[in-house]
Amino acid sequence: MQREQWGSRVGFILAAVGSAIGLGNIWRFPYMAYENGGGAFFIPYLFAMLTAGIPFMIMEFTMGSRLRGAAPRVFGKINAKLEWLGWFQVFIAAVIAIYYVAVIGWAISYIGFAFKQSWGTDPNGFFFSEYLKLGGDNTPSSLGAIQSHIAGPMLLAWGITFAAIFGGVKGGIERASKIMMPLLFIMVLALIVRVGFLPGATDGLNFMFKPDFSRILDPTVWSAAYGQIFFTLSVGFAIMLAYSSYLPEKSDINNNAMMTVFINCGFSIMAGVMIFSILGYMAHQQGVPVTDVVESGVGLAFVTLPTAINLLPAPHILGPLFFFALTVAGLSSMISIIEAVTSAVIDKTKLSRKVAAILVCGIGAGLSMAFATNGGLLLLDLVDYFMNNVALLGSCLIELILIGWVVNKLPELRTHANSVSELSVGQWFDFCLKFISPVLLAIILGNNLLTTLKEGYGGYPQFDQNIFGWGLVAAMFIVAAIVNVASKPVTDVTEA
Ligand code: ALA
Repeated sequence: MQREQWGSRVGFILAAVGSAIGLGNIWRFPYMAYENGGGAFFIPYLFAMLTAGIPFMIMEFTMGSRLRGAAPRVFGKINAKLEWLGWFQVFIAAVIAIYYVAVIGWAISYIGFAFKQSWGTDPNGFFFSEYLKLGGDNTPSSLGAIQSHIAGPMLLAWGITFAAIFGGVKGGIERASKIMMPLLFIMVLALIVRVGFLPGATDGLNFMFKPDFSRILDPTVWSAAYGQIFFTLSVGFAIMLAYSSYLPEKSDINNNAMMTVFINCGFSIMAGVMIFSILGYMAHQQGVPVTDVVESGVGLAFVTLPTAINLLPAPHILGPLFFFALTVAGLSSMISIIEAVTSAVIDKTKLSRKVAAILVCGIGAGLSMAFATNGGLLLLDLVDYFMNNVALLGSCLIELILIGWVVNKLPELRTHANSVSELSVGQWFDFCLKFISPVLLAIILGNNLLTTLKEGYGGYPQFDQNIFGWGLVAAMFIVAAIVNVASKPVTDVTEA
């Protein structure tokens, strides 16, 4: 069977950028930057981008385009005993997808709310009590009932994702990216131009970019920077391997990888400028310092920004525009996360794309309903923490150790990448991936494991942390190993 291919280079880059730019850029990055030393965060962030982001992206594009498979087949082709790592990464993608879609669902609901600022004067109470219907007795294992007003928009997001995956690489994903990415850039630029001139906007920007150099040696700042880079670039969890496996032979790798990284990280800074201009304006209107208006994570997008939207000129235009941009960014990443899973299923089972898409999206949509419940937010927070800070960093570290040391493939990958690319990369590529990144990742992951073992996460009941945190990561690992050992190698199943 002939493997599908992207229709054009631009189509591939837009799809890769669409995958990278997501919820992580719009609400995670600005807050991360603020919390981890403001302007001083850019030093570890840029260091992580150069030493881990770019070389990792080049490595994954090379492996995907050369070995032409989803993650399990790529690792299986390198060595049949490594297929499990591909499955582990596919499971990370699958778990991330089923909660990621919940945040997209909320964003879709908020497009509607934003027209009339339905959240009124108490966006906090509106989000947690009226919209999520989060009860005081809910925990990650006591979720309550499925809320149809949350499930509905989530199913809409699944429907759009399904249509793109079902339509195939060129007819579905590439077409969707060509519409979504220009639209997203135009929307965010329009928002920046409008909010950038509001009174107080520059205070917000000074606040975001003002460096706090006392934080620069803090390991948590470095952990945040590395974690953010892997998540935002969609590397280490099967996505970029799958996307690059559809590149025509001899496609440029180094240039494409660098463009994807720079556009993504540039967009993050744009999103930061947009959010902090709004926060600066809000602080100015309320006559308080910017520190008083900043909130973290979910609260930033769904509580602080609605509060700010109330104060904006033309809120019924800027409000829906912001949530529409968040939805589009989320959907293009969601499509890539699901494609990583679907293409692995197609490689392994020989099912047609259409049947595999129905199966993956059907099962995924069913499981994701756990996040449409009263306590869905709590489960989301717990699972997200373990996926990002344990499973994803662990997967990236294992990938580097196996490729850099165990099978020792970096020089060969670099030679291949250089042979097809306009720009050549030098020895620094091997040095970053063999030494700098694994050492930093080992320290960061070790630190995360120790702290989480000692202190747990988020004050959730220990039982819930054992099941949905540690237990889930262990189960993903064990099932991946069983699939590797007990089934016919994916490399024997279908060959392109
Ligand atoms: N890279 C995607 C994001 O940042 C997953 O949201």
